[in-house]
Amino acid sequence: MTQDVSSPLRFVLFATGVTALGGFLFGYDTAVINGANSYLKASMGLNAAQEGIAGASAILGCIPGAMFAGFLSDRFGRRKILFVCALLYALSGILSAVPRTFEEFLAARFIGGLGIGASSMICPVYIAEISPEKWRGRLGTLFQLGIVVGIFLTLFVNKTVQGMGDDAWNTDFGWRWMLGAGAVPALMFLGLLFAVPESPRWLSQRGREDEAREILGKVGGREHAARELIAIRTASAGEEGRFAELFRPPNLKPMLIAVLLMAFSQFCGINAIMYYSSKIFESAGGGKDAAFMSSVWVGLINVVFTFVAIGLVDKAGRRPLLIVGTAVQTISLTLVGWMFHTQQSGLPLLLAVIGFIAAFAMAMGPVGWLLCAEIFPNKLRGRAMSLASLTVWVSCYIVAQTFPMLNDSPSVGPAITFWLYAGISFVSLLFVFAFVPETKGRTLEEIEEEWNRTGPELLKEGGQP
Ligand code: GLC
Repeated sequence: MTQDVSSPLRFVLFATGVTALGGFLFGYDTAVINGANSYLKASMGLNAAQEGIAGASAILGCIPGAMFAGFLSDRFGRRKILFVCALLYALSGILSAVPRTFEEFLAARFIGGLGIGASSMICPVYIAEISPEKWRGRLGTLFQLGIVVGIFLTLFVNKTVQGMGDDAWNTDFGWRWMLGAGAVPALMFLGLLFAVPESPRWLSQRGREDEAREILGKVGGREHAARELIAIRTASAGEEGRFAELFRPPNLKPMLIAVLLMAFSQFCGINAIMYYSSKIFESAGGGKDAAFMSSVWVGLINVVFTFVAIGLVDKAGRRPLLIVGTAVQTISLTLVGWMFHTQQSGLPLLLAVIGFIAAFAMAMGPVGWLLCAEIFPNKLRGRAMSLASLTVWVSCYIVAQTFPMLNDSPSVGPAITFWLYAGISFVSLLFVFAFVPETKGRTLEEIEEEWNRTGPELLKEGGQP
């Protein structure tokens, strides 16, 4: 008898779609500050150093957020941490809209950062743990889709708010609306989470097999549930993972792969472009409106090419996407550097930047989050993902801090800065080729089992057991 797939698909799509809202708020909250900071600066009379701190305060919150969420989610469950994320986002949205002092503003942004950091760890883990293997890549990519849609939307929210009044109004109120608007999707996220089940893998890991069976049954039917439960039991159910195990075989190899992959995904300079695109296009000679339109193109291509990843990640697999993606990143970043070197702006520069964004969006962007949530044993996944996410935030902070310095420095300048990012992309291509495993079509327990036996075997074609 053929099984009707529409209802399991609906069930996992709902659970993973709601979880992807955590990504949406991640994108919104990291990017919204770009439109708000000049008004905030005027409103609070900030100097350049304070402006830098205002921009970085959320990222600084991401670091502890990512660090603690892993341990807490292994202990108390994935769903509870998703609730915590939604609450932090809502609180930060509301608090960011009302501050009277700079310190109050920083505290509100830091709370949002805790939510972003925790989401960057918990959302990919939750999606990986509830998805059936044949859809896991596509569903995991929904998290990145949420991020890029969130980033894209801030452009229009900020522009709309800006248009609601003159500069004086924006200085007093506009920036508060920009930041506060994030509370609306955060409260939606919070409400929808009540209908989202706990991760079946976490439940069965904690010995709550009946509840796990029921959820796995809804995901893929009774047979799927029975098969999965046996696999989870024989993998590592009941054992409490310890942090130190991450630094010993067989976990050391996936740990190093995850940390390096995440570092490469940031040091290619993606957020130099995402956070500073208007500044880059303005400094290349366009006016303010042209710079805004270029940022819209960058955001749109980011969204569109995430759909390319959704289409290919479970068919072609993670490795081919990463190999093509990092190769195109290397070429397009070299071209971006060349454009600056030869002082070309306008369309050629925009096309080179767009080439880089498209390559990142179809590979490194989504596959980084996806793969790190796939390659660890159930008992350690939360803690391991914390380390991977922590790597993202520390690297992101370094890039965001150093890009303006490198870019403005007379001895370095934009050309060399982008060539540096091109060089890092080339090294990441070699790294992917040599070390990153293929995980498509395998259950999380098959992947875990494989590390125990042969680690590198995973590199081979992968896919069908
Ligand atoms: C990925 C990166 C994130 C970046 C985004 C841009 O999610 O991890 O730092 O802002 O892609 O598309």
